This record gives sequence, structure tokens and C-alpha cells, in this order.
Amino acid sequence: MRQPMIAGNWKMFKTVHEAVVFVKELRPLVADVTGVEIVVAPPFTAIHAVAEAARNTNIGVSAQSLHWEREGAFTGEVSAGMVREAGAEYVILGHSERRTLFGDTDLTVNRRLMAALAAELTPIVCVGETLEQREGGQTLAVLDQQLKQSLDGVTGAQLAAIVVAYEPVWAIGTGRNATPAQAGEAHTHLRGRLRQWFGADAAEQCRLLYGGSVKPGNIATLIAEADVDGALVGGASLDVASFAEIVRGALGR
Ligand code: 13P
Repeated sequence: MRQPMIAGNWKMFKTVHEAVVFVKELRPLVADVTGVEIVVAPPFTAIHAVAEAARNTNIGVSAQSLHWEREGAFTGEVSAGMVREAGAEYVILGHSERRTLFGDTDLTVNRRLMAALAAELTPIVCVGETLEQREGGQTLAVLDQQLKQSLDGVTGAQLAAIVVAYEPVWAIGTGRNATPAQAGEAHTHLRGRLRQWFGADAAEQCRLLYGGSVKPGNIATLIAEADVDGALVGGASLDVASFAEIVRGALGR
């Protein structure tokens, strides 16, 4: 059985103070939740303080990216070991904003993934098609390429601990979520590919999250899809009550 995961990607929102206040408010709202893995991904600056505020709770902490080298002359970059030591146990990789705004490619996502695994971080690897690609009938081919190249060199044992997030670019921050059927189709396709490339056992264990305009009002129908194991939430994860409601929407799956 795959444990559902609800992860909040805060993007470039929340100062250290705001992030700590959020976690302190979230703690009592989800203290009774078992069976859902709860993760928040603050900006680098707040990882340590958030990890301290979340210590001994059911809330995990994620970074939003990392550099693949251990250390070096890479101004502005942060390594896997650094975010791990700061208190992160997860890292989001290859988010479409990284790909379109900051030059991430499948190749660099793969490098970051290897560094994350070496540092014992749980990677959350994002894939997803643009509107143009969907309308051109290329969705599944695009997903295949992103998935295959991002996961190059990964073993079945490693895959079991990796999380993949399907985030259609046209659904991110637009208020236009994929329908449960669209998400379900993409997820079932992705799991089929994982089965083909890594074997049935590993593919069954790998969690597939949906991301793109997830809200308290649509989480239940999305997660009801057999291969949707949770959500990567942007905007709606910035408000404590709405994030807690989304976590609750994943209960009982
Ligand atoms: P929204 O939930 O704001 O659409 O963002 C989704 C996302 O990019 C999560 O990583």
C-alpha cells in the first residue's frame, strides 16, 4: 500500500517568521492525522527554522531544488548535503518553473536526483506537458521523455523511494486543474512506464502526486483515481486552513 502524500510547494513565498508561524498553526490542525505523509517546502532560507518548528511532529520538510555538486564555486547554489543538514528530508526537482525560468533540463534534473539520493533525501521529481503539447496530442510522449531521462540510472530499489509529481503546466497557478480523468490517465500511463522500466514491485511502491490548482474542493475527486497518490500543492498550500483541509481530503484513501 502506498501512503498518500500531500506536499505544499511554497515557491518564493514566506519569510522565516511567516514560515514558522505557519508550521506552529498547522501542527494542532493535523496532529491527529495518520496515514498521510505531510510535507512543506519553504524557500531555502526558512528550511532550518521550519525543521525546528516541525521537530517531533508528523510534518516533513522539503527543499525546492538543489545543485548536484557537493560544494564548489557555484555562486547562488545550495547542495544536497546542505539542505539535508539544515533539516530537509525531501527535495522537489524539475518543477516547471525551474525548467522554464531557470534552465533546468531532464539532464540536470537527473544530476540533481542522483545528488539527492546520495544525500538520502526523498526526491519529488516533476514532469508535465504544456498546453501546446497537450493540444498537439503529445502529452504521453512528453511525459515518457521527461520521466525516462530524469530517472536515468536509477535502480528499482531507488525508484520505490522516489516520488513523481505530474504537474500539467497549463494547470499550475491557473485555477484550471486537470480533471480527475485527465490526471488518472496520465498517472496510469506513468505507472505503466515505471513498471516496464523498473519492474512491478518498484512501480507499485513509487508514489505519483498530482499538482496544478489543487484546492480543498477538488482533492477528494483527484485522489479517488487509483494511481493518484496525493498532491503537490502551490497556492492553496500557503494558507494554513486550506492546506490542512487538503491533507484531510487525502484521509481514508
Ligand atoms: P498551484 O497549486 O498554485 O496551481 O501550483 C502547483 C504547483 O506548481 C505545485 O508545485
